[in-house]
Amino acid sequence: MRGVISHLANRLWIVVAALGLLLGVDQARADDKRFRLSAPAVLVDSGLLDYLLPRFSLKTGVRIEVVGVADEADVTLGRETGRAVFKGEGAVWRMARAGDHPGAARFAEWLTSEIGQRTVTSYEVAGRAPFTLPEVAEEAEAVPDFDGDASEGKRVSLTQCGRCHVVAPENRMNAMGSTPSFAVLRTMPDWAARFQSFYALRPHAAFTQVEDVTAPFPINRPSPIVPVEVTLDEVEAILAYVAEMAPADLGAPIQFQ
Ligand code: HEC
Repeated sequence: MRGVISHLANRLWIVVAALGLLLGVDQARADDKRFRLSAPAVLVDSGLLDYLLPRFSLKTGVRIEVVGVADEADVTLGRETGRAVFKGEGAVWRMARAGDHPGAARFAEWLTSEIGQRTVTSYEVAGRAPFTLPEVAEEAEAVPDFDGDASEGKRVSLTQCGRCHVVAPENRMNAMGSTPSFAVLRTMPDWAARFQSFYALRPHAAFTQVEDVTAPFPINRPSPIVPVEVTLDEVEAILAYVAEMAPADLGAPIQFQ
């Protein structure tokens, strides 16, 4: 009898342990699939978020909780900081991210993509679309000073980015043809914003570490390739280098992504 009970007890422990594991894993996954966004009342009241967020969630399975306090949010939509994402209700709205929540990264990517932008402009109230895209000129004005070290930027670009991107004639033969060259990226009106946040943009997040900025790779998702490791100074240097670079001559302006 004792033997049976202890056998059952052992069994029970195995079940409990397995459940715990499952729940733990599920919990982590659930957290990845839910993040917090803060936006001022005027934006919330406009109805845009009620239109936008379910469409994003439906597509990605990532849910968004709208919170009032910016400090608690993974993503902030506001007037002051971040990348200009749309315009309306008398303001240019900018998106800023805090931390590295994967769902938030996904949202940032979606909102700035063609589909996300089209979703913003397709929102209508009484036959009128209250939100439009920010003008390109506005982005260009927001371009910061590039006081990094351009020659250091070239060195870093060649060693770290040159595996995939054609950076300069020197690595023309070693880069990957499917990846846009730096000169092509330089033609985009918002090239600086893209280089400033490249580590959060696809495909870099999975293999890039920026010192003091990005969190370590998740233990269950190590970098699939030799990681790109840069410091913020090096990102500044890359910006200074790309700022000096002649944009590729493509004839007509291109739309990338
Ligand atoms: C392992 C390959 C790889 C490496 C290394 C790499 N990139 Fe990229 N990068 C890509 C690919 C592929 C794209 C195109 C993504 C797309 O089409 O959505 C890209 C796109 C970009 C873009 C445009 C992103 C956008 O969505 O607008 C920027 C800016 C960029 N890379 C900067 C860099 C910088 C700076 C480095 C080095 C510090 C670097 N990349 C290293 C593969 C790489």
